[in-house]
Amino acid sequence: MLESLQDQPADKILALIAAFRDDPRHDKIDLGVGVYKDPTGLTPVMAAVKQAERRIWDTQTTKTYTGLAGDPAFADALGALVLGDAVPGDRVAAVATPGGTGAIRQALELVRLANPAARVWLSHPTWPNHPSIIRYLGIPTAEYRYFDPVTRGVDADGMLADLASVAPGDVVLLHGCCHNPTGANPTLLQWDAVIALLLARGAVPLVDIAYQGFGDGLDADAAATRKIAAAFGECVIAVSCSKNFGIYRERTGLLMALGDAGRRGVVQGNLNFLNRQNYSFPPDHGARIVTTILTDPALRATWQAELEEVRLTMLGLRAALAAELQRLTNTDRFGFIAGHRGMFSQIGATPAQVEQMRAAYGIYMVSDSRMNIAGLNAATVPVVAQAIVAAGV
Ligand code: LMR
Repeated sequence: MLESLQDQPADKILALIAAFRDDPRHDKIDLGVGVYKDPTGLTPVMAAVKQAERRIWDTQTTKTYTGLAGDPAFADALGALVLGDAVPGDRVAAVATPGGTGAIRQALELVRLANPAARVWLSHPTWPNHPSIIRYLGIPTAEYRYFDPVTRGVDADGMLADLASVAPGDVVLLHGCCHNPTGANPTLLQWDAVIALLLARGAVPLVDIAYQGFGDGLDADAAATRKIAAAFGECVIAVSCSKNFGIYRERTGLLMALGDAGRRGVVQGNLNFLNRQNYSFPPDHGARIVTTILTDPALRATWQAELEEVRLTMLGLRAALAAELQRLTNTDRFGFIAGHRGMFSQIGATPAQVEQMRAAYGIYMVSDSRMNIAGLNAATVPVVAQAIVAAGV
């Protein structure tokens, strides 16, 4: 059996981890995989997470199974963080999942179960694991324009033109905030236009929200998701806690399916069923950390302050890199870096230019020129700016 297996294509983001590790240069710079790094290059455990873990250690009396949906308190707490009071709770069915990827995978399985004919529309570009999972599941897919390669902002006209072809029942995957890989995000007015169009087309939005709190703040980053939740009779929302709680390896995510309150029980049963088929009970430790933080006012305040510091650090790095590039080029060509939000910016380098930066400067970014802004620090900003200019970007 095993002889018949073929090599699988390497994930272009994860391949960078090994390539960076194997580079012997001491001054190499990792702008690859999307993890936050503090100015010393570490991905710290947040103080609120440490305190929550200590509290769990002190008080937890059992490790027996939770439920197929995970602990309902987690869905309530994280659901409220994302949705605010945008929708009544009786419309929301939810399950804990292994990370945001687990939520996306379960969401796509739900789509396939509910409507095998549905196409799933993806922004071009998008996080590479979206099309990879969709292809693996054999779900029909289509793309909509998203990014203007000249302005490096959202191509709102192209996006609306392409989404006008969405068929009733098709699913449209939208990045709730902090678009990965581009860093470009629609304005709220542009979101309104997308929502109106998708409502008219009879589409079902699937929102991937993995960077809440990394862009303009916790509520601002959830604004589009809340608008969507309130506007559509049905939508699906995949949430990741990896980045905003810094608990990447705990694999903590939530899948919410919003529909008619009268159907909530059936929808919840299907989400539970899918969890059972794929891994039975979802992981609990990370979910318990998140619940502990969100439900304790003092811990929550500590976490929010830490998250805000992370957000402001990234904004500062954006501004510094844009300013240095302006100084070196005497143009505003790279001003978009300061305007982008979240962890990433796609800077517009060709794969050959990305490779040149790696070879000459030891700078690692994804071949599509996605750079992890959080991988920069005050010392490396000038080096990266110099490399971008030297590569002729
Ligand atoms: C990224 O986009 O770099 C992160 O979401 C990590 C991953 O799993 O790809």
